[in-house]
Amino acid sequence: MKEIIDVELKTRKVDFSRCKTDMLAVGLFSDVKDLDKLNKELNGKLNGAINHVIRLGDFQGKEGTSAVVYGNEQVGAKRILLTGLGEKKKATLDTLRKAAAHAAKKSVETKAETVGLALHKAFGGRLDAAAMGQACAEGTYFGSYRYDEFITESENGRLDSLKVELVDPDSVKLQKLKKGLADGATTGKAQSFARTLGNRPANVVTPASLAAVAKELAHGSKTLSCTVFDEKQMKAKGMGGVLAVGSGSRNAPRFIVLKHRPADKAASAGPTVALVGKAITFDSGGISIKPSANMEEMKLDKCGGIAVLGTMKAIAELGLPLNVLGIVPSAENMPSGTSYRPGDIINTFSGKTVEVQNTDAEGRMILCDGLHYAVKQKCDIIIDIATLTGACVVALGKHMAGLMGNDDGLIKQLQRASQDCGEKVWPMPSGEEYAKEMKSKIADLKNISGRWGGACTAAAFLGQFVGDTTWAHLDMAGVWSFEKATEYTAEGASGYGVRLLTAYLVNLARARKK
Ligand code: BES
Ligand code: MN
Ligand code: ZN
Repeated sequence: MKEIIDVELKTRKVDFSRCKTDMLAVGLFSDVKDLDKLNKELNGKLNGAINHVIRLGDFQGKEGTSAVVYGNEQVGAKRILLTGLGEKKKATLDTLRKAAAHAAKKSVETKAETVGLALHKAFGGRLDAAAMGQACAEGTYFGSYRYDEFITESENGRLDSLKVELVDPDSVKLQKLKKGLADGATTGKAQSFARTLGNRPANVVTPASLAAVAKELAHGSKTLSCTVFDEKQMKAKGMGGVLAVGSGSRNAPRFIVLKHRPADKAASAGPTVALVGKAITFDSGGISIKPSANMEEMKLDKCGGIAVLGTMKAIAELGLPLNVLGIVPSAENMPSGTSYRPGDIINTFSGKTVEVQNTDAEGRMILCDGLHYAVKQKCDIIIDIATLTGACVVALGKHMAGLMGNDDGLIKQLQRASQDCGEKVWPMPSGEEYAKEMKSKIADLKNISGRWGGACTAAAFLGQFVGDTTWAHLDMAGVWSFEKATEYTAEGASGYGVRLLTAYLVNLARARKK
């Protein structure tokens, strides 16, 4: 069995009703009473079966729902998946992305190896065709993903690959869809890569193995280069934050840097964006140890760093004309005789001292060194992403990441990217009031404050390490995983951040070109 289900994505010029495939996915809105042209034609050839399902009330076109109608001699498809798109006026690009994800998930479940995607048809000319192609590709990866690399005794087996064709009879339209399809496949694949790394347990993914993955990414790319600092090199540089957190584990910490320099010389004259991601391969809490209930989830505490690795992979493959530095400090937070302790005062890379009051507030201890590294490299824009606080999950639930920062323009650009890619963000404060709470009586800063506003005080702590560089912070603690499978995807790591950061960088490169 392959590690993940391979996805093959193509376009095909074909009449919808003649499309030979295991599963043909068509879209229907919940509030549109008359069938559109595509579905009317299918309905006719299926002797009214689509109308019948609708009249019975078995399918109402709601988002995240579907119904199967079986094909006959008159249509090429073995199955027709009626896929709900919700209310027409509310439908966006993300509606299409989710519908594609749902169709991919259903196809994998029924072991339909070949899929014809005709979902875009319902949107007519309302959305840009290339963007629709991209959304379909991203959704296909998202929905077909599952994590089963350690299952050796599968009862029913599963598909090794899913062959998906975006179908349309119009070759001009198809050409436009195809442009986006390739980009979407790149981002979708990078997101699945992130999900698998996220899902792997901490006895498999260590700081050293994560560094090896980053090196491999650089090895396979002309525009990426990778530098990794081990403990000794971090000591020489004075990266006290990462070293402190890593000191309790036999899996020694690493400081990973991936650099993307565009092939085009003119493009490399532009600004440098730093992406800084928290990669705690396991967060036991350290000496301030966590309760054991659900502690296994803390293998996911590396997902910010992994989102950065996934984004670097995506932008390198997209050939983005932009300088980007991916900075991933990585450590395992464990309790032992060599751990850092509550009360310790740590000299961080920046020179600022931090009083440790809780070893479980370790994310900010490694990120502060990552942020300072970005400042030292003279990066123009810094975005960090981290599974940083339980408080953020309390505030926003499991639907969106917290978004803080020191620059309204950057916040707006990230909100824009969020709308484009469907990974949601919500703005939260992190200004002076919160920064004041992080002052220590015996050091420059302390690593926790009182009980309230924990996501905001954590962000304010990070803000102390960026100087006046344009900076934003994403707290993805709530969105790192799906606790249960949804209508759109399997349970486990979500790969959140890959689409968001990639969309942000793509938009930035586009804006610079103009
Ligand atoms: N990795 C956790 C944050 C977290 C909690 C992520 C729950 C996802 C779900 C982080 O390192 C942590 O332990 N934060 C503490 C901070 C506290 C000690 C100030 C927390 O949120 O409890
Ligand atoms: Mn912690
Ligand atoms: Zn943590």
